[in-house]
Amino acid sequence: MSEVLKPDRKGIAAAARALRDGRLVVFPTETVYGVGANALDEVALKRIFAAKGRPADNPLILHVSDTAAARKLTSAWPEHAERLARAFWPGPLTLVLPRGPDVPLLATAGLESVALRVPSHGVARMLLATAGIPVAAPSANRSGRPSPTRVMDAVADLGDAVDIYLDGGQTDLGVESTVVALLDAEPTILRQGGLSREAIEAVVGPVRTGAHDDARSPGTRHKHYAPRAHVHVVNGPADVLVAKLRATGAPVAHVAGSERGLTGPDARSPGPSDDGAAWARALFSLLRDLDHQGYQDVVVEAIPETGIGAAVMDRLRRAAER
Ligand code: TXA
Ligand code: MG
Repeated sequence: MSEVLKPDRKGIAAAARALRDGRLVVFPTETVYGVGANALDEVALKRIFAAKGRPADNPLILHVSDTAAARKLTSAWPEHAERLARAFWPGPLTLVLPRGPDVPLLATAGLESVALRVPSHGVARMLLATAGIPVAAPSANRSGRPSPTRVMDAVADLGDAVDIYLDGGQTDLGVESTVVALLDAEPTILRQGGLSREAIEAVVGPVRTGAHDDARSPGTRHKHYAPRAHVHVVNGPADVLVAKLRATGAPVAHVAGSERGLTGPDARSPGPSDDGAAWARALFSLLRDLDHQGYQDVVVEAIPETGIGAAVMDRLRRAAER
């Protein structure tokens, strides 16, 4: 049986012990909840893939408490890594670097690179410091589903496959970390996320964007972020599509910026469309809640792709792919 614990001293001590014993722990980070295991224990790593139904070719992010610990898991530490780590760790940034010899190939899905992150959430930091081991932690959802931003979403997806759930309330950012590969001269954004491209470029200059099917980010190829409902993304007002779908008798949710002033029981708004941060915070829980409320279609009006809005639109487009 799994337990949901308060992340107080006792809860964190129990969770750290479970991790060292090779068991799975769900914990909050500033982005989304992760399901963690000892990154150096192959049996524990296999439990993560099994619990999530995750394809074995999708590598994991290793979480550590500071830059020195991250560096030990690499075989090269370029100048760009030093600059980005200084500027943004702890925080919502994952760096992909040449794999160090101690990192199991099971964690990197056979790749010679490793993804590393130092999270800033107080509970994650306490847990990592107490456990004293690198913790591999993908988002705590069943593979293909929206990432969990509340502990109950992780419990709904992973149930008793996990030993301990630490309940840290709603996560701050709501979308995952930005993944940046530092494997050649120019940094490449493999996944947009909680840290904006603009912020990264201010520190290291222009960065490339990896294609969705970039061989260096296998995870971005897989189906992602999808609720059970069909998601439709529309540029501009979506009233025509909403009316067309409703004409079939199906329940349709209409999600748009609050400035549109939509009313009625099927209208939802995470906030003004130029408030990307508010949309990021609300997005995944909104998609899960609309599923529970029985909607078959969810029509979303696009928001501007600046700052964290870029990550929101990336998630919405992938949720709409099927
Ligand atoms: O915010 C986050 O990053 C959350 C929290 C829990 O830290 N974690 C998370 O992990 O989103 P996950 O497994 O859902 O996504 C990891 C992403 C995937 O797109 C994966 O393909 C990519 O990181 N990745 C991991 N290792 C990689 C590597 N060696 N090369 C390229 N991409 C890698
Ligand atoms: Mg994920």
